[in-house]
Amino acid sequence: MELSQRVKNITPSSTLAITAKANELRASGIDVIGLAAGEPDFNTPEPIIEAAIKAAREGHTKYTATSGLSALKEAIVKKIAHDNKIHIKSENIIVTTGAKHALYLTFQALLNPGDEVIIPAPYWVSYTEQVKLAEGVPVIVNGLEENDFKLSLEQIKQATTEKTRAIIINSPSNPTGMIYSKEELKEIGEYCLEKGLAVISDEIYEKLVYDGAVATSIVEVVPELQKTAVMINGVSKSHAMTGWRIGYAVADSVLIKAMTNVASHSTSNPTSIAQYAALEAYTGSQESVEHMRQAFEGRLNRAYERLISIPGIRCIKPQGAFYLFPNVKRAAEMTGFSSVADWATALVEEAKIAVVPGEGFGAPDYMRLSYATSMENINEALDRLHTFMESHIK
Ligand SMILES: Cc1ncc(COP(=O)(O)O)c(C=O)c1O
Repeated sequence: MELSQRVKNITPSSTLAITAKANELRASGIDVIGLAAGEPDFNTPEPIIEAAIKAAREGHTKYTATSGLSALKEAIVKKIAHDNKIHIKSENIIVTTGAKHALYLTFQALLNPGDEVIIPAPYWVSYTEQVKLAEGVPVIVNGLEENDFKLSLEQIKQATTEKTRAIIINSPSNPTGMIYSKEELKEIGEYCLEKGLAVISDEIYEKLVYDGAVATSIVEVVPELQKTAVMINGVSKSHAMTGWRIGYAVADSVLIKAMTNVASHSTSNPTSIAQYAALEAYTGSQESVEHMRQAFEGRLNRAYERLISIPGIRCIKPQGAFYLFPNVKRAAEMTGFSSVADWATALVEEAKIAVVPGEGFGAPDYMRLSYATSMENINEALDRLHTFMESHIK
């Protein structure tokens, strides 16, 4: 079967592949600890589940408007006014099948063939592939470790050409957990405004911030960006709802209409009962969100201290999301591996811990380690890593 050039150009999601590998080993009875997960290990809070059951029982099982239920969009309008001090209308929102599809629709509606999108590396794996699927050109710019992996304005200026259409800002970042400060966002936002670049602001980890850190939306800092920015968010990470597939995009109504048009010919509306669940997520008590945040904070602090005591590993302390992103090049070299990818394979096979090598995030000297797992698993996994290092150092 001859496949399209479009699909030949993309690579499958490396994070999902590694989780699948760890699950497969586990299913065959091998005790692998997975530190590869990109999702909270908590169950969806009970009131949200109840809301979905109620919606199904009451017959809310039909198509909804493609762009989502009015009540849910109203709830998002209020959430944004409360959290970001930005005043939008329902016509500025599309509810989507996860934040991933909000991003997909954005690129489909925004890019012409050859349009360039600046993507800061390390990056979340789907950005580059989604840009390519829209016939755009990903322009990868490396965030430096000494600048907490964030792009400087100078780097953005250097990467901008007459073909640049957009830039992605993901703060807090997957995989690095870093957060752009208000000052940094202001500089970048004002530059994008001046150059007419769209800013795609992926804020999916906004609620998962630690040790007093605050994540601010670039649109809050530079409100004029409301015309040209796309805010991406959803309930997946904040409310432990990855499987329900509810995200959203906020943008100018013209872009939202175009995105809705694309959605109307692909997914149609996101699942009706999942939308009712998301409505409860945004309008009900936010106590469980804070409860989960605190659990992640405790794990981060424990895992970070333990990780940096392991030989060959260097790590900047993350401020958000639920990942550690250490430089492990030296660890791989010390144990006789020529690449972090080979070293990570040995970790699964010998130490029985699954991590994601940094290659897929555009940062081959690093690995991503998720602490969205129990404290017990974190302790055991890091003990195994330490033992592996000590027994293999050449
Ligand atoms: C940075 C980032 N953006 C978007 C998403 C997609 O979220 P969703 O599960 O809502 O599609 C993820 C999920 O891993 C992510 O890490």
